[in-house]
Amino acid sequence: MNTIEQHFQEILQGKKPANLYNPISYILMQPGKRLRPQMVRIASDMFNGNPEQTGYIAAAFEMLHNFTLIHDDIMDKADVRRGQPTVYKKWNGNIAILAGDALAVMAMQQLLKLQCDPKIILDLIDIFGKTALEVCEGQQYDLDFETIDNVPLEEYLNMIRLKTSVMFAGCLKAGGRFAGADEESLQALYDLGIHLGIAFQLADDLLDVYADEEVFGKAVGGDIKDNKKTYVYLKALELADESQKQELLRLFSTTPANEKEKFLAVKNIFDAVNVKEATEEAIALYTAKCIDDINRIHTEEQKKAFVLSLVNSLQSRNK
Ligand code: IPE
Ligand code: IPE
Ligand code: MG
Ligand code: MG
Ligand code: MG
Repeated sequence: MNTIEQHFQEILQGKKPANLYNPISYILMQPGKRLRPQMVRIASDMFNGNPEQTGYIAAAFEMLHNFTLIHDDIMDKADVRRGQPTVYKKWNGNIAILAGDALAVMAMQQLLKLQCDPKIILDLIDIFGKTALEVCEGQQYDLDFETIDNVPLEEYLNMIRLKTSVMFAGCLKAGGRFAGADEESLQALYDLGIHLGIAFQLADDLLDVYADEEVFGKAVGGDIKDNKKTYVYLKALELADESQKQELLRLFSTTPANEKEKFLAVKNIFDAVNVKEATEEAIALYTAKCIDDINRIHTEEQKKAFVLSLVNSLQSRNK
């Protein structure tokens, strides 16, 4: 196996019907950050897993991730991802639903290509299935919260643990499991994924308000448009005085004709209460937890350098 893109091309070679497989090829070939395959590979490499074989697990998780993105963009009514039209915009909703379904199944099939002890494959399918199901649970909470005023921060954190973190945790644990890591290290890898995923989603929530659209590749203000109860919003409510709080609650109970006006009104309050700084502090806190988790992995320090640099690079990401 060469690059992940070459692998995707091979899988899709000659597949029909075109309206099912073209959208799949379209999203898989986009320039995503490829963080999840990187995590699978880093964890496997820590325990000297075979790189060639690890490629199938890396592909499986990147495909699962892309499936969640196709459906997420329908749910969030998002027009742009990775700087390109989303699948449901470029084709239509029905095609996007079906492409997502097919991609999820194709993702799982990657694990069956592994040439290793069947016990390992069963464990990987177990991790993979649990991950996929929990992402659905998180995505449902995310939707439920759109129409609930008072979402406690604790429930928000549980929601993002499910929709985002378990995928990171699953990637790290699967890579480690394939390579024969001990139980303590597997737990440390899993915890690392949870903490890194939380920091990652907090940054995503922040970028949704403050990013440069060109670099971010997604429209800013999408969460505000949908009344998403993000960390930025919930923390701003906490920091706001009574009148700012009432105004935020009012703004987040509407779907106005003028999206831009709503965005600017919300952003004004976010700026006034310095919620950007408060969110950056929370990201730093979860990043520190990642470092503790890395220290609990039983492998040579040298092997930890890759994961450390990944964690640090994500702390100040702009896409
Ligand atoms: C987007 O994930 C979904 C979230 C969990 C916020 P990424 O930001 O990793 O998306 P790509 O794959 O790099 O486009
Ligand atoms: C991402 O949440 C969760 C999943 C895709 C599972 P978001 O809805 O915030 O992700 P983006 O911002 O659209 O990438
Ligand atoms: Mg979403
Ligand atoms: Mg979204
Ligand atoms: Mg987002």
